[in-house]
Amino acid sequence: MQAVAQQSQTPTPADACASAISAIDPVALRRALGTFVTGVTVVTTRDEAGRARGMTANSFTSVSLDPPLLLVCIGKSAASYPVFQSTAHFAVNLLHEGQTEVSNLFASKSADKFTTLGHDVVHTGAPVLTDCLTWFDCTVHNRVDAGDHLILIGQIQAFGTSPAAPLGFCRGRYAQVKDPLPPGWLSSHDMIVGYLIDANGSLLLAQDGRGGWVLPSAPRRLANGRLPLTGGGELALVPHDTFLYSVFDTAESDPGYLMYRARLAQPLSQQELPPNFRFFPFDQLPYDDIASREIRSMVRRYVRETAGGHFGIYMDSHDGGRIAMVSDAQPWTQLSQV
Ligand SMILES: Cc1cc2nc3c(=O)[nH]c(=O)nc-3n(C[C@H](O)[C@H](O)[C@H](O)COP(=O)(O)O)c2cc1C
Repeated sequence: MQAVAQQSQTPTPADACASAISAIDPVALRRALGTFVTGVTVVTTRDEAGRARGMTANSFTSVSLDPPLLLVCIGKSAASYPVFQSTAHFAVNLLHEGQTEVSNLFASKSADKFTTLGHDVVHTGAPVLTDCLTWFDCTVHNRVDAGDHLILIGQIQAFGTSPAAPLGFCRGRYAQVKDPLPPGWLSSHDMIVGYLIDANGSLLLAQDGRGGWVLPSAPRRLANGRLPLTGGGELALVPHDTFLYSVFDTAESDPGYLMYRARLAQPLSQQELPPNFRFFPFDQLPYDDIASREIRSMVRRYVRETAGGHFGIYMDSHDGGRIAMVSDAQPWTQLSQV
């Protein structure tokens, strides 16, 4: 009798027993294991010289909540295996649906996989990808030798997540994970990430293409203090000084808004701005030409709060919006420096 995975019919328990005593075909076994649907991660660390190293891995599993542990299996034939074998810390970056290229890059033998990708130091020093679905920054809790793999068990020291859709993997192919968010959660597919960008008493607005004005939005996250702008160009912002300001999350048909407030790193003249952008002094803001009622009232609150020097965070919700005042917001502190 052949191993279960090589049969085309539904296996019976008897077949399973028979397969246990027959030699296991590694190709068929790989195929069988590949029917387990997983996400895709990039596991990262640094070598002794401090260079960032990383590889694609889908052998990620959560292990324990108390203490917070996870594991990932590192193949002994991977070029980065010796580095993972001796490292004291590593990060697991779960990829979102738009990151198949990132997965392919980190599954390759490329000499430097990090040149085109933003990454940050968060807590342990392991590289955390600036753009990913979720990240876990870990110290090594334990290593277990397991056949042709090393089981690397990490204790989670810091983590972050986003509402993006995950990248899935099944039967050796990338897979879409359909609508994984519970009802009422924002999907980041269409969510608008906007910025209130202050330049000494003026606010940056962008033409909306219909004769009105909108807040600048960003197609990608802020990386290294540089904000890419929807419509082209980018702006340098005061680093570590970007704060959440408003979350709009109500109407079913509305994509939702996530609004931050930030400051320009250096003054810019109108000529230096990308076309379609303009600074408006606070007392000349074109409220009537801002189509969205929510954004109009948010800009009004921003002008009011700037005068008072205290800012709140607004959360729109199905049962009405609410504001929490954040007293004395200081620039972000790097966790590893606390
Ligand atoms: C979706 C996917 C999942 C993978 N999962 C693992 C894994 O869990 N463990 C592993 O050792 N290799 C895994 N690999 C293969 C490694 O990414 C690949 O061997 C890579 O070249 C290792 O990089 P390195 O040789 O530069 O260390 C995976 C590859 C892909 C595309």
